[in-house]
Amino acid sequence: MTEFLGEMQRSVYCGEAEERLCGRVITVMGWAAKRRDLGGLIFVDVRDRTGILQVVFDASIVGVENFAKAEAIRSEYVVAVTGKLRARGADSVNDKLKTGRVELAAETLKLLSDADTPPFILDEAEKVNEAVRLKYRYLDLRTPYFQQIMATKSAVMGIAREFLRKEGFLELETPFLGKSTPEGARDYLVPSRVHPGAFYALPQSPQLYKQILMIAGFDRYFQIARCFRDEDLRANRQPEFTQIDLEMSFVRDEEDVMRLSEALLKEIFLKAKGVKLPEKIRRIPYREAMDRFGSDKPDTRFGLELIDVSDLAAGCGFQVFEGAVRSGGSVRMINAKGFYHSLNPILSRRDVDALGEYVKTYRAKGLAWIALKDDGVQSVITKFMKEETVTALLDRAKAEKGDILFFIADKNEVVYQTLGALRLHLAEKAGLVDKSAYDVLWVTDFPLLEYSPEEKRCVAVHHPFTMPKTEDLAYLDSEPLRVRAMAYDLVINGQEAGGGSIRIHGRELQRRMFQALGFTEAQIEERFGFFVGAFNYGTPPHGGLAFGLDRLIMLLCGTDNIKDVVTFPKVQNASDLMTQAPAPVDKKQLDELRLKPDVR
Ligand code: AMO
Ligand code: AMP
Repeated sequence: MTEFLGEMQRSVYCGEAEERLCGRVITVMGWAAKRRDLGGLIFVDVRDRTGILQVVFDASIVGVENFAKAEAIRSEYVVAVTGKLRARGADSVNDKLKTGRVELAAETLKLLSDADTPPFILDEAEKVNEAVRLKYRYLDLRTPYFQQIMATKSAVMGIAREFLRKEGFLELETPFLGKSTPEGARDYLVPSRVHPGAFYALPQSPQLYKQILMIAGFDRYFQIARCFRDEDLRANRQPEFTQIDLEMSFVRDEEDVMRLSEALLKEIFLKAKGVKLPEKIRRIPYREAMDRFGSDKPDTRFGLELIDVSDLAAGCGFQVFEGAVRSGGSVRMINAKGFYHSLNPILSRRDVDALGEYVKTYRAKGLAWIALKDDGVQSVITKFMKEETVTALLDRAKAEKGDILFFIADKNEVVYQTLGALRLHLAEKAGLVDKSAYDVLWVTDFPLLEYSPEEKRCVAVHHPFTMPKTEDLAYLDSEPLRVRAMAYDLVINGQEAGGGSIRIHGRELQRRMFQALGFTEAQIEERFGFFVGAFNYGTPPHGGLAFGLDRLIMLLCGTDNIKDVVTFPKVQNASDLMTQAPAPVDKKQLDELRLKPDVR
C-alpha cells in the first residue's frame, strides 16, 4: 500500500496550522502519531518536524474510499491530507498543543507509506531502554525532543557562520586523511591501499592545518570541523565530535582571541536561546581555579570551596596529615556547611562512610572528617591532635554547628582531583546547583608543561606550539614547569566548552620548546617536519580557539548526555548500535590493504 503524491503539494507544516488559517483548504504531510476510531469519525494526529495537527476523517465528508484508507492508518504510517482547517468546538480544545484550537477536516487522503508496529511508542521513548532507542535511532529522532535539539544545532552553526564571515573569517576545509596531530588522544588510523603498511590519521583537530593556513596568508580562518579521538567515552565525550574552530593572524595576545570568541559566544546564546550573557566574562587564573575549586573547569555556581590547611597539618600529630605535607603534598578541606545538622541533615553517618569509599575512586587513601555537632566535635581524627589544632582548623573553616569538614591529605594532584569531585558530588546531593543559570568563565594562565611520570619527561599541557607567557620565558630552560602558557579555556557550568592559545611563531623559540619537551631532532623531523618546515617561510603571529559545538548544544538544550545532540552517536564502547559499526570487512578488502587481523 504505497500511494504517490501525484499533484499533491504540502502547503502548511502541521505545527504551523494557525487559527488565522481557519476556513482555508490546506495540505499537510507527516506521520500518524495517534489514531482514535469513533465509528463514523476517525481522529488522526499527524506529526511533522514542526508539531502535531489533529485531522478528522468524517465519512460524510471524505467519502467511502478515503474513509476506508483512514481506517487502515496505524502508528507511523506516512500520510498526506488535504482538507479545510476549522476551529475546534470549545469542549475539545487542547491547550497542550500549539495547534490545539484547530483541526483539519480531511477531504483527500493519500497513504504514502505503511509502517510496521514500532518497537516503542514514540511518546513514551524516555521510558525505553537506551540500546533499543539507539538501534531505532530514526524513530527516536522523530520525537519533538530531538527535532528541537537538532534544529538548535543547525541554528547555532548558522549563527556562527554568519558572525565569523562578518568578522572577516574565511570558511576553509582541511583534510580528514592526514598525518597524526599532537592533540594527546589516540588516533583513528586509516590504512592506505596504495602505500601498504602506511596509514593516514583522522584529525584529532585541524590544529596543524589551521596554523599552516595562517602561514599561507589566509589571515582569518574558521571551520565547523569534525574531530576524531580514540579515547574513553564519557557523558560529554564522543569519539567523533564537532568543533567551531578558528584561527587568526596578527593577534597581539590572548585578549584579541578571547574577545572575539566571547562575542561569538554571546551571539550564539542570544540568538539561539534568547539568553544575554554578562557583558564581562570572568577570568580565573588556573592556579586560583585549582586552589579554590580543585579543577581547571570549575563550576562556580555554588561555594564549597577548598581550603588549604597544610600549615596547620604539618605538626598536628595525625600521621596521615603530617606525612602528606612532609612528602611535598598538601592537606586541604571542604566545609560542607550545614550538611550534618541534627535536624534535617543532608548527610547521615552512613552517607559519610559511603563518601569515604567514593573518594577512593579518585585514588585518595581515605576521607578524614570533623563534624561540629550540638554537643561538640565528632571525629575519629581529632584524638590524634592537640586541641589548639582542632580549634584552628574549625576557625579556618569558619565552622558552625551542623557543619562537617572533609579533609584529603595526599599529593596535590590527588587532593585537587578528589576534593574537586567531592565538591560537585556534595553540591548535587544538596541541590545547590541552579540549573537554570549559565556560569560562564575563562580559565587563563595554564601551565605550559607538566611532568609525565609515564614518559619521564615534560609534556605540553595544551600542545607543543603554545606560546609561553613573555614574562616566564626566562625559565623555559631552567625551570620549565614554572612557565605559564598564553592559553585559555572557556568553561560553562563546570564543563570545558572551548579552548585555545596563542601559538609560537618564532623558529628559535619553537626549538627551545621542543628541547624542553625532550624531543630529538629526528623526532621533530619525523613527527612535524612538514609543519616546522612551513615556519621557515614567514610566519605571522597567530592564535586561535575551538569551541566544542556538541557541548555548547548540550548546555543550550539542558542535557548532560552528549548522545542527545549527535544525530547518530556512538555508545560507551564506541560502537554505533544502528549500523553496527565497527564491523568486520571482507577478506578481499583486507587483502587489498595487505592487512591481516591478529585478533585473539
Ligand atoms: P581541545 O582539545 O581543547 O582544543 O578541544 C576543543 C574543545 O572541543 C571539545 N571536545 C570534545 N567534545 C566532545 N567530545 C570529545 N571527545 C571532545 N574533545 C574535546 C571541548 C574542547 O574544549 N586544536 C585545539 C584548539 C586550539 O588550540 O585552537 C583543540 O582541539 O569542548
Ligand atoms: P586511619 O588512622 O588510617 O584509620 O585513618 C583515620 C581516618 O583518616 C579515616 O577516616 C580515614 O578515612 C582517613 N584517612 C586516611 N588516609 C587519608 C588521607 N590520605 N586523606 C584524608 N583522610 C585520610
